[in-house]
Amino acid sequence: MRGYSSYDAGGVPGTCLVIGGSGRVGSRVVVQLVERGRPVRALVRPDSSIRRLAPVLSRIRLVAGDVRNPDSLAEAVRGVHQVIWAAGISPVRPGKPEDIDQVEVEGVRHLIEACKRESVAYITYLSCMYASPEARSALFRAKWRAEESIRRSGISHTILRSSVIIHPGRRFYCQIPAIHWWEKAPGIPHALPSFRNSPIASDDVAGCLIDASLNPRVRGRTVDIGGPGALSPSDWIRLAGEERGKPFKEWAIPTSLAEAGLWLGSRLFPGRMLSREIFRDMVGQDAVVDPEAMKELFPHVSLTPVRELIRRMKEKTADL
Ligand SMILES: NC(=O)c1ccc[n+]([C@@H]2O[C@H](COP(=O)([O-])OP(=O)(O)OC[C@H]3O[C@@H](n4cnc5c(N)ncnc54)[C@H](OP(=O)(O)O)[C@@H]3O)[C@@H](O)[C@H]2O)c1
Repeated sequence: MRGYSSYDAGGVPGTCLVIGGSGRVGSRVVVQLVERGRPVRALVRPDSSIRRLAPVLSRIRLVAGDVRNPDSLAEAVRGVHQVIWAAGISPVRPGKPEDIDQVEVEGVRHLIEACKRESVAYITYLSCMYASPEARSALFRAKWRAEESIRRSGISHTILRSSVIIHPGRRFYCQIPAIHWWEKAPGIPHALPSFRNSPIASDDVAGCLIDASLNPRVRGRTVDIGGPGALSPSDWIRLAGEERGKPFKEWAIPTSLAEAGLWLGSRLFPGRMLSREIFRDMVGQDAVVDPEAMKELFPHVSLTPVRELIRRMKEKTADL
């Protein structure tokens, strides 16, 4: 990989458009691009909160749009060199079923069409490790279809399939609803089998997304990304206990009971909570990445250890 060791992402010419610039990952991409001196455009919805972009607002161009609207994407990509997609529907609040395809599948198709018309040089797409044509949930099947559209687009690209993303500024246990709700309880009930994931900091995901277009190790490829440690549900509960300064007891309940609760909840509050299908997709397999492989693929991104993430969260007061 001659030449890669000396590349400097700050030196890349041309504007980068970030789709989902108001989001937790997207805003970190925008901020890091600005810090590297790149001209940045961020697509945000007219009613998006742009508070995460406050530190860089005077140095970026905001474009109002919605990926469901092809015209707004055509306008947003005009004159850009590269696009980073960090948008999407949250698994814990999936919204209306029809939005899943319109945002995740049709939105990506509209983007590809717009990029072809404007001869955009590169697309980097953020997907997740659960995306699969065999997924039980419509959301993860939609992500797979979006990946396929990009792979077949003929546009230079990288697809990054991330394990669980951790956002500093939100307390560690707030990112696991069961732990958040039971913060003051002596123990945590959970119905999670022994799957593991490799939590990765949103800043590190942003670093990988920015790195990808110039990194010959990942150009044109679909790669899994994750943080340096593999955690089981018990590890998460132990770390959450350490964070609050008092260990949690672990109360295992049958998975079938949790699934029944999720089934009922998603009927009572449609689109406003994790569905049973998404839960099954997420707990049915490990989402683990080999840290050595990550070092090989992204030698310029130094991955934040989980304990360091927790330490940083404690220092932050804002809930990002
Ligand atoms: N969080 C994880 O653990 C994880 C793991 C693997 C992959 N991912 C992927 O990473 C993506 C970003 O994650 P995140 O945690 O940063 O999510 P997030 O904070 O919810 O951000 C999602 C972004 O997408 C935007 N968006 C949603 N619908 C849109 C539409 N119709 N048109 C334009 N923009 C739209 C949102 O805009 P608003 O601000 O207006 O809502 C927001 O900026 C996810 O969607 C998922 O695909 C996440």
